[in-house]
Amino acid sequence: MSEEVRARVEWLRKEIRRHEYLYYVLARPEISDFEFDALMRELAELEARFPELLSPDSPTQRVGGAPLEELPQVRHAVPMLSLDNSYDEKDLTEWYGRVVRLLGRPPRGLVAELKIDGVSLSLAYADGALERAVTRGNGEVGEEVTANARTIRTLPLRIPFTGGPVEVRGEVFMPRQVFASLNRERVGEGEEPFANPRNATAGSIRLLDPRETARRRLSFFAYQIVNAPELGLQRHREALERLAEWGFAVNPGWSRCRDLGETHAFLEQWRERRAQLTFDTDGVVVKVDHFAEQQELGATSKFPRWAVAYKYAPEGVRTVVRDITVQVGRTGVLTPVAVLEPVRVAGSTVARATLHNADEVARLDVRVGDTVWVAKAGEVIPKVLAVDPARRPAGAVPFHFPEQCPACGTPVTREAGEVAVRCPNRSCPAVRRQRLLHFVSRAGLDIEGLGKRSVEQLLDAGLVSDPASLWDLRAEELAALPGWGERSAANLLAELAAAKSKPLWRLLVALGIRHVGERAAKLLSECFSSLEGIAAARAEEIAAISGLGSVIAASVVEFFADPEGRELVRRLRERGVDPRAEASGGAGPLAGLSFVLTGTLSRPREEVAALLEGAGGRVVDSVSRRTSFVVAGAQPGSKLEKARALSVPVIDEEGLRRLLAERGVTW
Ligand code: IVH
Repeated sequence: MSEEVRARVEWLRKEIRRHEYLYYVLARPEISDFEFDALMRELAELEARFPELLSPDSPTQRVGGAPLEELPQVRHAVPMLSLDNSYDEKDLTEWYGRVVRLLGRPPRGLVAELKIDGVSLSLAYADGALERAVTRGNGEVGEEVTANARTIRTLPLRIPFTGGPVEVRGEVFMPRQVFASLNRERVGEGEEPFANPRNATAGSIRLLDPRETARRRLSFFAYQIVNAPELGLQRHREALERLAEWGFAVNPGWSRCRDLGETHAFLEQWRERRAQLTFDTDGVVVKVDHFAEQQELGATSKFPRWAVAYKYAPEGVRTVVRDITVQVGRTGVLTPVAVLEPVRVAGSTVARATLHNADEVARLDVRVGDTVWVAKAGEVIPKVLAVDPARRPAGAVPFHFPEQCPACGTPVTREAGEVAVRCPNRSCPAVRRQRLLHFVSRAGLDIEGLGKRSVEQLLDAGLVSDPASLWDLRAEELAALPGWGERSAANLLAELAAAKSKPLWRLLVALGIRHVGERAAKLLSECFSSLEGIAAARAEEIAAISGLGSVIAASVVEFFADPEGRELVRRLRERGVDPRAEASGGAGPLAGLSFVLTGTLSRPREEVAALLEGAGGRVVDSVSRRTSFVVAGAQPGSKLEKARALSVPVIDEEGLRRLLAERGVTW
């Protein structure tokens, strides 16, 4: 390998880092995504050809490593303290008074910063390279999440300081837009949405598979160099400036304040303005600027005396929590719910509000008797935003999340990195009831005449037990139920009869297979055309469908491999349920064709994929007998061999152009 190659690799890395910084941190890109991708590709190719040049701080190495079994525990060299929170500006004044008293004079300057609503993270750099990332944990011991942290683009893998170890701390967060799209995706897949960006961040940074974390597009703001005084820095604001010079993103909302008056002005300035930010903030942190004064002030066992947090009061309505109950959903997920003193919120009376999940209850530390702020979340379900600590009644006890399912008593489970706590018992009566409700709901088979009340009535009367038993209902027994008559019984039976031939995707959603929402169900229905086809599909075949992937594939296969799932399908079919696969998306000159792309094409693969999909074709990741064409560019991979083995037609780029031209698609 020549010196030239080595130099080129170094140059590429430097250039890529510079563009990453411009793009992710400053949001001022100088080159197009296409040009950036070309630099990345060249670097990756050189590293593949000369593996001796690979280094863990190369920009190509952000996502890597196999999924972990569990996250290792690490003790913090310097404990990660937290700050006392307050909604009251009076507390700020008291804090300042204490600082002046302890120092014997006013501090020589303060810094006010926006308080980012995320999860704190500590980063250890050695010789300029990121070595380890650890969550706060309990402040003394945290969890090592280095591989996950490396996927965060606003976090440099290398800093231009090699004079000794450096520990940087800051906040990981999920930008609001990323959060919104992640939750849309989750709801579309029938998953529980995250409560808020902070909750999503906590889940995402602790995942065991860094590739999944990479997809969560987390971000990071640095706010502290733990050993700043050793680096010759004298003030916090110099540390913030140094962090920015090193390539970290530093939260733009910070300002020097000479005295308390100026911090109040800062608070007011951001009270409304923070709504326009691309990330969530929950308040302001005020810090004594000089490290010498910080050291003089020290810390209590829990909080540093040199900093204080002021929280903006949430925008919501205040009411009192009468009780906290836990509901069991159709996937077995336990959702804590606050039972409230009824209150008017945005035009309706609210008596219950979701507390989302165990993490959120723990973070809010909400207790029966607490005064809380509630608001309508997005559309319908109201949520508890925050607890007012000043109004907590004496003797209020912390809420303990149940360790057993409240409906059936089975011990609950929690998957690593997931926020949801579940009842694993498939025959849990609460789960069965919710599954039946989901089956007939508008999202599912949409059976008119069956709402929550009537489903409960049928269950209580012992007339139904599972979805298939709906088609065993007889007119006389229905008509005899309180509130029913011959007419309503006949109507329901007619509805049920018609529902037998509803679209296949509706039945798939109704079955409540994890991760299969409307989008996935439509893709499955298009690709496999029948319930039997889907039930017989192998995980690889499903995973190869663009837009599905291995998580959905595993869940579908698991559902149909399970005797209970198979039995349900059999019982449905036995009763004449015969869903129709609607003609595939149908439109476009490439409708019905599927393509696998391999090797280097003259245009980026994503671009070619978008072109094919735009014309109604499907682009899948791996070759199967169903693949219509494998498009092979330069240096094709193993997909080409597989295509040959399966006798799938292989075309080159020229062949693809011809095919497109024949069908009137412009390349
Ligand atoms: S300074 C000794 N600055 O808020 C703790 N913290 O309630 C010094 N946070 O654990 C922390 N933005 O996770 C600091 N600009 C900021 C912050 C910030 C968010 C978080 C951090 C900390 C918690 C304290």
